[in-house]
Amino acid sequence: MYSIKKLLQDGKNIQGEITLKGWVRTFRSNRFIALNDGSTIDNLQVVVDFENTDPELLKRITTGAAIEVKGRLVESQGKGQNVELQASNISILGDSNPEEYPIQPKKHSLEFLRENAHLRVRSSTFSAVMRVRSTLAFAIHKYFQDNGFFYVNTPIITGSDAEGAGEMFRVTTLDAKNPPLNENGEVDYKKDFFGRETNLTVSGQLEGETFAMALGKIYTFGPTFRAENSNTSRHLAEFWMIEPEMAFYDLIDNMNLAEDFIKYVLQYTLEVRRDDLEFLNKRFLEEEKTKPQNERSTMSLIEKLEFVIHNQFKRVSYTEAIDILKNSNHNKKKKFQYPVNEWGVDLQSEHERYLVEKHFECPVILYDYPANIKAFYMRLNEDGKTVRAMDILFPGIGEIVGGSQREERYDVLKQKIADLHMDEATLWWYLDLRKFGTAVHSGFGLGFERLVLFATGMTNIRDVIPYPRTPQSAEF
Ligand code: 4AD
Ligand code: MG
Repeated sequence: MYSIKKLLQDGKNIQGEITLKGWVRTFRSNRFIALNDGSTIDNLQVVVDFENTDPELLKRITTGAAIEVKGRLVESQGKGQNVELQASNISILGDSNPEEYPIQPKKHSLEFLRENAHLRVRSSTFSAVMRVRSTLAFAIHKYFQDNGFFYVNTPIITGSDAEGAGEMFRVTTLDAKNPPLNENGEVDYKKDFFGRETNLTVSGQLEGETFAMALGKIYTFGPTFRAENSNTSRHLAEFWMIEPEMAFYDLIDNMNLAEDFIKYVLQYTLEVRRDDLEFLNKRFLEEEKTKPQNERSTMSLIEKLEFVIHNQFKRVSYTEAIDILKNSNHNKKKKFQYPVNEWGVDLQSEHERYLVEKHFECPVILYDYPANIKAFYMRLNEDGKTVRAMDILFPGIGEIVGGSQREERYDVLKQKIADLHMDEATLWWYLDLRKFGTAVHSGFGLGFERLVLFATGMTNIRDVIPYPRTPQSAEF
């Protein structure tokens, strides 16, 4: 059976009677069906011979109904499409009561669609976003597979808190009504999971490192969980992360890889998903028109993608960034919610966005952060106070990548773990990597949904994942 995408591309070469199945988007004048089968953003126009069609059947051709059409492709009289399907037979596969069906052929608000998460992918916007998401995922695998990386599946259930931020969902086999208690009468979480304390992973990095130190270059691509109570348009409790890890790569190699990788996957998607991106581009421009003039983007979505693909990311040290922020008018006039007064402060998303959107006006790689605002595993610099960290900041998004060169020296890492009062006993295997054949190595994590946000021009992260998990949403 043909897909509508194929028919619209090659229709002129397809002779004879064909059969097509799909869902009705609209039905006009008892004559024209806009049919969609999910293969593309575009609908195929089906022309109904209404004089020879049972009026009872015509009534059942409603928005959302699944139908089968037999007919011949002919050159289209209408504008925009080169072929349409002249139906000789139509059958209803599944009715859709127009009184009840929530997805009408009109523009629904994103909030309304979120409440109908099981049906929203039938809207043009979500179907386009989900196809772009799928293509980006494929491009990610393709990039790594073509470049000698091996795909590793790190565990979802784990004892380690890779980021040391304590934002983990507990995994438990305990009987909630009758939990085991310790000597103080408190719930004994040490007995969580067959005698061990376990959580859903916040990052596959530490396990990924063990594989990089044998296979050379690896990547993970899997679900990641953060029990942070952040209700922002950039945070999810469950998101997908891509984490490459490379033996013998230093921080510069890591930055070069991250930049090349992001450019490749955007370029690939722009080529392969041109139809959906053109649609999302139009949507983006319409949304921009609703904003005050001075807040509108100077570029269209496609121009933004082209810009990122064809321009070098600006590389700036944390120390340079702090100077820029300290001296910015934005800071002096106290417009930042968190003013930047001194070296050592953590950067808030308002600062990141200032750097990217106002100061440099291009993607920025910030590196060499103060050690005490970053995770324990990052390679300490010779200055003794900064670490070889790098974050990539994107316009409209903020942080899209977080990565670093890893601390490969056994004694230094051991001391760091002690200084942070972390439980060394749970990290013995991680320390082993530094005992047996240690080497310089690096990696990073890319938040998949943040990449999809950027590529699609959507503004809320809940709208680029099939079923968002946030502190407020759990119904689906
Ligand atoms: O900066 P993060 O926390 O870094 C790590 O987890 C490292 N272990 C990665 C590594 O070096 N292998 O997270 C990496 C990226 C962020 O830059 C962001 O894009 C995304 O993951 N991210 C989130 N995306 C959606 N919702 C959240 N709550 C996110 N938290 C992080
Ligand atoms: Mg980070």
